[in-house]
Amino acid sequence: MDFSQIRQLDRAYHAETYSYFPIAIAGGKNATLVDTEGREYIDFGAGIATNIFGVNDESWKAAVIEQLGKVQHICNYYYAEPQSRLAELLCTRSGAKRVFFANSGAEANECALKAARKYAAMKYGEGKRARILSLKGSFHGRTLFTLSATGQDAFHRWFSPFVPEVASADADMESIRRAAGEETCAVIIECVQGESGVNALPKPFVTALEAYCKEKDILLICDEVQSGNGRTGKLYAYEHYGIRPDIVTTAKGLGGGLPIGACLFFEKTEHVLQAGDHGSTFGGNPVCCAGAVNVVSRLTDEFLLEVQGKADYMRAKLKAFDGVRAVTGLGLMIGLEIDKNAKEVAAKCLERGLLVLTAHERVRLVPPLTITKTEMDEGLSVLKEVLK
Ligand SMILES: Cc1ncc(COP(=O)(O)O)c(C=O)c1O
Repeated sequence: MDFSQIRQLDRAYHAETYSYFPIAIAGGKNATLVDTEGREYIDFGAGIATNIFGVNDESWKAAVIEQLGKVQHICNYYYAEPQSRLAELLCTRSGAKRVFFANSGAEANECALKAARKYAAMKYGEGKRARILSLKGSFHGRTLFTLSATGQDAFHRWFSPFVPEVASADADMESIRRAAGEETCAVIIECVQGESGVNALPKPFVTALEAYCKEKDILLICDEVQSGNGRTGKLYAYEHYGIRPDIVTTAKGLGGGLPIGACLFFEKTEHVLQAGDHGSTFGGNPVCCAGAVNVVSRLTDEFLLEVQGKADYMRAKLKAFDGVRAVTGLGLMIGLEIDKNAKEVAAKCLERGLLVLTAHERVRLVPPLTITKTEMDEGLSVLKEVLK
């Protein structure tokens, strides 16, 4: 099909939830994508931080295809090797004790929030400490519980009433204390807020929050859906802060482009969820787990150092561009505070063969972690011209 046929079908039959740029991606290699008309693009978006090894990665593809040739789905009545292997890998790499597998970031967070409520219900009585606290500017997903926890009013319009006992506070301890009271079971944070502009939380705040949560027996949940899986140069962004959360959620890059989410439980929360408490038909799907095993095994210390090197390279170049006021975020999760309108910049970049994302008024860059120097340079030269 050519582009106009695809667009025609989409406009006629697909739910109208997305406003697309006028191209359809057909394939590519690493961070170079090709559209249906044969035009090439440098990809600084990686399907929103998801295709972390770009597209058509040979090793990842082989792992996925090998599993497809065995069995594509195993229900949760039976054990499954890819799932067990991935659980072990994630626990040994992170220090977590147990993992629940979901299909997306929102579902991983949903699991974390439910587990937090059960933790508090078992210890303090059902409904006694049910409050979930998130931060203003956060994004945690589109299910009603995770939407309730998303601290941005723009996403809330039309969908009230929300899940009760979910509130958002500013990223300062006074605001946290006031909002938490004695009824809070968990605080959920993104160490680097992605959707609201790629903002890394201040270290003193995160350190103080961890101490407060420990003192009050409030669970600290780190949402690493976007910032995890090597994106910031560490396996998880919270490692930059020297904290130890009670629950970590991740998705996006974990499957290298296949739908999988994971909720990692540490010491306090290891045994909270028991048989029958939670579940998912596709969670832990063997094909997705096989892809994720390939991803996590390749996020070695050496690979993460390379990611940091690429991030330093891109950040140094970007800082020197005309029209860039600040470069935010961590590692290869980059926000650009710019003089121009971010959406217009994204459209102009696309016309010149570069795909970038936006986050509020910022340009957001989350390229594949395997992006080459040539691809970085090509993309950066387009961005330089457009931002000038
Ligand atoms: C930090 C964060 N949490 C949760 C989500 C929701 O993930 P998903 O779209 O996979 O449900 C996102 C998606 O952008 C995210 O960035």
